[in-house]
Order: sequence, then structure tokens, then C-alpha cells
Amino acid sequence: MKIAIGSDHGGYGLKEIIYRHLKDKGVDITDYGTHNEDSVDYPDYAERVAEAVAAEKYDFGILICGTGIGMSIAANKVKGIRCALVSDCFSARATRLHNDSNILALGGRVLGPGLALEIVDVWLGNEFEAGRHQRRVDKITDIENRHR
Ligand code: RB5
Repeated sequence: MKIAIGSDHGGYGLKEIIYRHLKDKGVDITDYGTHNEDSVDYPDYAERVAEAVAAEKYDFGILICGTGIGMSIAANKVKGIRCALVSDCFSARATRLHNDSNILALGGRVLGPGLALEIVDVWLGNEFEAGRHQRRVDKITDIENRHR
């Protein structure tokens, strides 16, 4: 499994923790920055990670800013991206099963590291159920195509 991860300054600390956690589990993970707490603009990192996931260079992406909101809004502007902002394990599972989300957005100023790591593990550990959910995801793609 190949994963791209990125953050702004508000998500930097949590990104480092998630990166180390996944690296220690043997996951093939690439860090798109940022690499310190200097102020940066989250759309720049969202776009880089989202483009790489949409181009299928990675199976999944993880984006972290202060709230996760800016990253999720920006990532969802990239065609083919279904970015889910998640703060609990139930939603982490559901968004993989039902939405086939390909990017996880997290709030570095919202979540503690323990919950954040559980969310990451649950999200990566579940697969899209397809079936009736495929029809719904296809309708999301139809919306995307109609509005471009
Ligand atoms: C940066 O201060 C903050 O706005 C950003 O990390 C994020 O929370 C935006 O949605």
C-alpha cells in the first residue's frame, strides 16, 4: 500500500506522528511536507497530495491542517478525489465502506494523537463495499463531470 501524506503548519506535529506510525508498520509512505511549523498555505499541500493520488501514484492520501476543513475543501477540488474529514472511528470506517474515500483529512488542533492514529488505522483497514454504494459514488463522479 502506497500513501502520500501532507500538512500545513497547523497539522505538522500530527503529520510527523502519523508518518512515524505508518513507517514503523512498514507502510510505503511519502511525505509531501510541510517540514516545520513555519506558516504555509494549506491549499498548496492539498493540491500536491490530491494530484498525486488522482494520478494513481498512491493508493491513498492523508492531509492534516489545523481543523482538517481547509485541506478537505481544497483536496475535493481535484477531479477524482473523495476526501473525507474525519474525527471519529465510526466515520473513518463508514467513509471507506460507503464513500470509497481516497484521502483522509484530519484536524491537528482537533484530535489527540491517540485517537488520530486509531482513525488512520481504521480508515486504512477497511475496504469499499461497492454494491449500492458504487451507484452513489458514480453519481458523485457524474456531478464532478457536469460541473467542469
Ligand atoms: C491555519 O492557521 C489554519 O487555518 C489551517 O491549518 C486550517 O485549519 C484551515 O482549514
